[in-house]
Amino acid sequence: MRIAGSDSRVLVTGGAGFIGSHLVDFLAGAGCRVTVLDNFRNGREENLQAALRTGRVNVVRGDIVDPRVCDNTLPGHPVVFHLACLGVRHSLHNPHENHQVNALGTLNLLQSARRAGVTRFLYVSTSEVYGRALAFPLTEQATTWPTTVYGASKLAGEHYAAAFHTCHGLPVVRVRPFNNYGPRAHFEGDSGEVIPRFLLRALAGQPPVIFGDGSHTRDFLFVQDCAEALVRIAECDALVGGLVNLGYGEEVRIDALARLALEVVGRNDLKPMHEADRPGDVPRLWVDATKLRQTTGWRPRIPLAQGLADTLEYYHALYTANPRCLEQMQTRNWEV
Ligand SMILES: NC(=O)c1ccc[n+]([C@@H]2O[C@H](COP(=O)([O-])OP(=O)(O)OC[C@H]3O[C@@H](n4cnc5c(N)ncnc54)[C@H](O)[C@@H]3O)[C@@H](O)[C@H]2O)c1
Repeated sequence: MRIAGSDSRVLVTGGAGFIGSHLVDFLAGAGCRVTVLDNFRNGREENLQAALRTGRVNVVRGDIVDPRVCDNTLPGHPVVFHLACLGVRHSLHNPHENHQVNALGTLNLLQSARRAGVTRFLYVSTSEVYGRALAFPLTEQATTWPTTVYGASKLAGEHYAAAFHTCHGLPVVRVRPFNNYGPRAHFEGDSGEVIPRFLLRALAGQPPVIFGDGSHTRDFLFVQDCAEALVRIAECDALVGGLVNLGYGEEVRIDALARLALEVVGRNDLKPMHEADRPGDVPRLWVDATKLRQTTGWRPRIPLAQGLADTLEYYHALYTANPRCLEQMQTRNWEV
């Protein structure tokens, strides 16, 4: 199925968020007409500024937990990318709401998609569904053993999506992205991610804070690579009804990441601080992206060192404009 380069009408839930807004940029740049459905809980209007200037993007403010919002918005959109969610740290202090958005919100969208006759529904899941997996790198066959309500509720969304394919023939594709980073990544509140937190603290002359001994690992994908890959995956007919991992394919220790971040900011003099482990923190994430390559031919373009330098430019501008932005960063941000 062709999406990029066509004038398809595409719905992006969570399109004002970090990954969603880069996806909207990519789709609008590729000629699609895009509707963003977002309640702006964690999304930002400024993330959509460039996309709105193309004249091919419109925004619906609404909550996917309300089935009427889904029923009213889906018709007229043959292609749906579902990214709206609440995150992993949020699930530690507000598990009920996290479940409502991630699991029930997904069910609402699937029901509306079926009624509206959607011809491609991409469910954006997460590598957090693997939880405490034991064999690495992680293929799609690895056992799912989520450690958090976030991981569990995203997995529920996957199973609901698969059930709509099996029972009703809804053309669903499920994708499990590993960690993303890049401009617009959250640093603030319970959404704050490791890379913007390391970079902003280093810019302010503060050492990175590592939870645990630094031996945890993650697999980092630059967000613009991710946006392009999501479109390639949605376009891939062979993946309908199936599941695919999405990541760079390099396992990076968090203490090594801290050193890289300090180097890119030019603050090698700062020494990382260590705090106790975060509850439910997954020890290792490392993708086996063989299936992704074989089905779509897609490969990432941006290696971590280059992506970090590009990301730094964004946070440098942000910090220069507003040094007080650091006040929005909480150390133990799962306790908000
Ligand atoms: N960021 C990562 O590293 C990463 C890794 C793996 C998977 N993912 C998945 O990618 C997707 C996007 O993640 P992100 O990092 O861009 O998160 P984000 O928080 O930046 O984006 C989520 C968006 O959903 C919106 N939203 C939240 N609740 C909503 C509701 N009830 N109704 C409508 N909109 C709502 C938020 O306002 C926000 O704009 C999520 O599904 C997430 O599980 C992200």
